[in-house]
Amino acid sequence: MSLFITFEGIDGCGKSTQLELLRAHLQSIGHSVTTTREPGGTALAEMIRNYLLHSEQPLAARAELLLFGAARAQHISEVIRPALDRGEAVLSDRFTDSSLAYQGGGLGLGSDFIQRINDFATDGLKPHLTLLLDVEPEVGFARRAQASGGEDRIEGRGLEFQRRVRAAYLDIARAEPGRIVVVDGVLPVAEAHQRIVEIFEQHTVAESK
Ligand code: TYD
Repeated sequence: MSLFITFEGIDGCGKSTQLELLRAHLQSIGHSVTTTREPGGTALAEMIRNYLLHSEQPLAARAELLLFGAARAQHISEVIRPALDRGEAVLSDRFTDSSLAYQGGGLGLGSDFIQRINDFATDGLKPHLTLLLDVEPEVGFARRAQASGGEDRIEGRGLEFQRRVRAAYLDIARAEPGRIVVVDGVLPVAEAHQRIVEIFEQHTVAESK
C-alpha cells in the first residue's frame, strides 16, 4: 500500500530516531519502505543541503526558501513519487511543514507565499500522515549538545528562533488536525514509538474507509 508519512519538529526533537523505529516496524509487518530526508535524498538536493547548512556565504531569507523548494521539487520527482508509484511506504525526515515552520515562523516570511512555493514544488503531493515530535527548545538544545556534532547554520540561530519555529509547528498542527498528529517528544523513546504505531494504525484504518 502506498503511504507517505513525514516526521517534523524542531532540531533535537527525536524525529530521526522515531523514523527509524517506524521503518523497522513497517518492514516487520510486510511493507516495502523507502526512507529519505529533506533537504536531501538526491545528488542535487544533498548539494543544496550542504550549501544551506554549512556554507559561510551570506544567504537571503527568500533565497533560502527557494533553495529548500528546489531541493524538494527534485526529491519528489526523483525519489518520493517513484517510490509511491511502486506501492511503497515512504518515510521522510522533514517535508513542506519545515519550510512553513522555519522560513515562516522562524524567519518571518509570509505563510501564503511559502504555501504557494510548497504547492509548486510538490505539484500538490501531500503526506497522508505527519508526526510532529514536540519538545521545548531547551530540550532540543540539551540533546544536541550531548550528540556534540557541532551547530549548522540553522541550529546556530539560537533558542528564540527555535521557539518561533515550535510555535509555528503547533499552529500548523491545529490548522490541519486530520493530517498532523502531535507526539510528546519528551516521552521515553519506546513509549513514543508505541504511540506512533497506534497513530499509524488508527490513521490507516481511517484512510481505508
Ligand atoms: P535536519 O536534517 O533535521 O537536521 P539534522 O541533520 O541536524 O538532524 O534538518 C536540517 C535543517 O534544515 C534543520 O535545521 C531544519 C532546516 N530546514 C528548514 O529550515 N526548512 C526546510 O524546508 C527544511 C526541509 C529543513
